[in-house]
Amino acid sequence: MKIIGTGSALPEKVVYNDMLTGFLDTSDSWITTRTGIQTRHLLSKETLSELAITSASAAIQSSGLQPSDIDYLICSNVANSYVTPSLSSIILSPLGCCCPCTDLNGACAGFLYALDIADAFISTHRAKNILIVAAEEPSRFCNWHERETSVLFGDGAGAVVVTEGNGFVDFRVTADTHTDVLYYKRSLETTPYDRVEEKTMPLVMQGREVFKLAVRACIKDVDTILEKNNLTGDDIDMYLLHQANLRIIDSIREHLGQPKEKFPTNLQKYGNTSSASILILIDELSREGLIPDQSTLLLSAFGGGFVTGAAITKWSKIEYNS
Ligand code: ACO
Repeated sequence: MKIIGTGSALPEKVVYNDMLTGFLDTSDSWITTRTGIQTRHLLSKETLSELAITSASAAIQSSGLQPSDIDYLICSNVANSYVTPSLSSIILSPLGCCCPCTDLNGACAGFLYALDIADAFISTHRAKNILIVAAEEPSRFCNWHERETSVLFGDGAGAVVVTEGNGFVDFRVTADTHTDVLYYKRSLETTPYDRVEEKTMPLVMQGREVFKLAVRACIKDVDTILEKNNLTGDDIDMYLLHQANLRIIDSIREHLGQPKEKFPTNLQKYGNTSSASILILIDELSREGLIPDQSTLLLSAFGGGFVTGAAITKWSKIEYNS
């Protein structure tokens, strides 16, 4: 399997750290030194499905395929205003696609899980061209009176088209039950038989625990996938990691003893966009011509659950007609 098209879309509204100090006991210096985040884009006028459609259309267009050539659509999404229908069902017709579609909730590692599943479909000839779209609005999970979580996230969408080819070298996805360190609960309707009233509970996160779990899990994934493929850190040209916190990325980089230039980041501009983060990064780098043809990329992400994923791929340059 290989990536042949990319796209991304971000909300228009840019929120600077200083704009948060009007209603949160926080500061630009705390947020930048602890996380690296300087701004985030937040949904205000647009809807998440609109972002998903824009990013997916751009990915299809750059792939050189027609929407009718897509024979499977996978959306990575943690939550949006619809529980049903799925986000993939909502965007399918507006995209002009006519194929099976499904949503996947792999938290911030959803894109890696979607890639792993797409590879299984393609290698068994169940599908040839698969569109993967990650669209996330984590800003809507937070309690905006809580500085511990709300400053960290941004909204956005990213997409890739994958097809038969020899780009991907290997995948590793893992899961481990740590459901208490990061969760967001939504209330369901009560029934005559179950009268326990559940309340929606905005995102709860034990930041320090998540930080430690994330660093440990990512290092394990990266070490394991490198070793399994007889590679060392030096063989990787670029590490595209989940954009949650610059200090998490630095810890992984230090462990690998690799130079900063190999770890491009954009979390400074967008905050943590959950499973969309690596896709937005790939699309930006690729459109700016910053991913050399035939370079080897290592992707790695972690998310609530706790789930993680990593993949190694050889990159084939994509031509964009603007
Ligand atoms: N502004 C100012 N002060 C704050 C803020 C804020 N926004 N948030 C917390 N603080 C305070 C705390 O109250 C605490 O104060 P105290 O010392 O008086 O008790 C102090 O800052 C230190 O708090 P810590 O939580 O220990 O700070 P830490 O250095 O661990 O940084 C952070 C917190 C940024 C959340 C870090 O732990 C982190 O990045 N964790 C991982 C988060 C993450 O990646 N989440 C997503 C992963 S999965 C996914 O992507 C959905």
